[in-house]
Amino acid sequence: MEKKVTKKHLITAALPYANGPIHIGHLAGAYLPADIYSRFLKMKGDDVAFICGSDEHGAAITLRAKKEGTTPQAIVDKYHALNAKSFEDFGINFDIFHRTSSKIHHETAQEFFLELEKKGAFTKETREQFYDDEYNQFLADRYVTGTCPKCSSERAYGDQCEKCGSSLNPTDLINPVSTLSGKSPVLRETSHWYLPMGRHEKWLKEWIEEGTLDGKTHHNPKEWRNQVIGQCKSWIDGGLHSRAMTRDLDWGVKVPTKDGEGKVLYVWLDAPIGYISATKEWAAKNNKDWKDYWQNEETDLVHFIGKDNIVFHCIIFPILLKTHTGYNLPVNVPANEFLNLEGDKISTSRDWAVWLHEFNEEFPGKQDVLRYVLCSIAPESKDSEFTWDDFQARNNSELVAIYGNFVNRAAVLINKYYEGTVPELSENNYPEIEKQLQGFAKAINEKLNKKQFRDAQNEAINIARLGNKFLAETEPWKLIKTTPEEVKNILNLSLQIAANCAIALAPFLPSSSTKLSGILGLNQLNWNELGSLSIVKPNTQLGEVEHLFQKIEDDIIVKQKEKLDSKSPSKTSETPIDSFKEDIVFDDFLKLDLRVGTILSAEYIPKSEKLLKFSVDLGSETRTILSGIAKHYSPGEMVGKQVQVIANLPPRKMMGIESQGMILMAENNLGELRLMRPDKKITNGATIN
Ligand code: MF3
Ligand code: ZN
Repeated sequence: MEKKVTKKHLITAALPYANGPIHIGHLAGAYLPADIYSRFLKMKGDDVAFICGSDEHGAAITLRAKKEGTTPQAIVDKYHALNAKSFEDFGINFDIFHRTSSKIHHETAQEFFLELEKKGAFTKETREQFYDDEYNQFLADRYVTGTCPKCSSERAYGDQCEKCGSSLNPTDLINPVSTLSGKSPVLRETSHWYLPMGRHEKWLKEWIEEGTLDGKTHHNPKEWRNQVIGQCKSWIDGGLHSRAMTRDLDWGVKVPTKDGEGKVLYVWLDAPIGYISATKEWAAKNNKDWKDYWQNEETDLVHFIGKDNIVFHCIIFPILLKTHTGYNLPVNVPANEFLNLEGDKISTSRDWAVWLHEFNEEFPGKQDVLRYVLCSIAPESKDSEFTWDDFQARNNSELVAIYGNFVNRAAVLINKYYEGTVPELSENNYPEIEKQLQGFAKAINEKLNKKQFRDAQNEAINIARLGNKFLAETEPWKLIKTTPEEVKNILNLSLQIAANCAIALAPFLPSSSTKLSGILGLNQLNWNELGSLSIVKPNTQLGEVEHLFQKIEDDIIVKQKEKLDSKSPSKTSETPIDSFKEDIVFDDFLKLDLRVGTILSAEYIPKSEKLLKFSVDLGSETRTILSGIAKHYSPGEMVGKQVQVIANLPPRKMMGIESQGMILMAENNLGELRLMRPDKKITNGATIN
């Protein structure tokens, strides 16, 4: 017999800084998808190490300690404990949540540095950097603030402008100020270890664009997300410059050489090595060999991160790993875009966030609901938005009304007719059910393998939809009087559908699946049974039937909205308008078919607060178009107006109605919308260019 080799995976999720709590943006960006993927692989029987930990170094932490009048160690101790607990309560099942302040990490990072130094990976360069005369110290990027050269925000940091998101060098700032003394810093020479990235351009380009490494196929670049490849390409095409890999700071991993006095390894040479040291720690405790995960070419390394970490994980860390030699490079880096909150960018400094530890406290037992919502709106290909109304709607009309309702109906009928004992399936008169389940199983596996978690979860919920439809069509409550034998078949099948839900949704909604297994009398959920009709055994006694989900009432949502309102950044005039998008080529613009049309009729859509339905005369044809402007315009004031329409988008179904175009609107940061109209009347169908 052929020996089955268990596939190994090393899954990492970006190490969060231990200088603040975790919010929903972090979850949606990296931790939830990483957890779903790891759970899926583990359920399949693969060998997985799911690694994370706190990033406990860096100037942001020393700065915070200074502001709070405490030590950096006290800060990281506090947030490491808080975040470890929030993740655990939320069901993020890391195999280890380690710390970069640990001894094993310092040793690992220093060894790594020395090995790279020995291999000639660095150049040592002396350059001018900002220095605070009064405090007698060099200023880390974060310690310098000033005016952003891109968006003119007056509170940009030396490494990044949090308003517009551009990454900066301290010397780019207009009117730089030291956050220590409040005075303008002076430039002074200091030496650092630099990584000459230019040397690596050629192989990086091949690796990222073609998926080849050292002339061999390494991964399939088509499986990488467009925005990940796009960001890397634009960096490489812009020319890779040398970057300093050390800093003048006394909090961090010390540079382990004589001339390294007073210097520490910069985040690039510190935090990702944390993945390695965490794996070592986990392996030592679990009787495993860490090298099997990092150095065995058969193991797949996947980094889950947010988009702000793309260059770090696709260019800098791979250069370090490859130069060191012996380490695997990632086969995929599924970076997510950003999640916004109620119309604004999530911001730690402005407290515009839903914090995980607060959610866990305020919504006990509802972790799966947040998991479900965040996965449904996961910013996999573009930024997306969390709103409390949407959270409520998805809970009430999807989790409660579809999944919970189906499971409950099936189980209640079995209790009623058979005192909770699962009936036999003596004859399957519904062969299409099995076919459909197998179709879902295939689709879910495919989407999960492609890391399309949003679609995968949607397919999984479709199994519950199928269950509801099946019960509605077969109406066992009527047949019980006429053909009771058939009811046994129907309810057996219904339970098999429920069991398929429990399996398919387990990576997404783990605690609901555990509850459901209890109801179905299943000890263990086996991924490989997905699609099967013999998961629940006849004569099994059902467990106690409980509702998987509860309706969330308006008052709960109103409370959360009020909590946010009390700190609403929208109310400050400081909120910037979105920064400009990346350049496109002229041809991209020409592809848009923009037209003028007249609104012939307009109406509200029942149950939708946002959408209006229009019929728009575009000259040669009249189209139905939906637009999310009901809160800004009434149907009455829209009729007769000329508007601008994108006429060549693929049709999109919303609330069961197909929208055949999009009406253009101007939007500011308060979320206010204004119609874009021609200033004089023009023929319908006129092109806009
Ligand atoms: N702590 C940093 C951040 O959150 C780096 C995380 S990525 C890692 O941006 F590779 F360093 F872990
Ligand atoms: Zn800016």
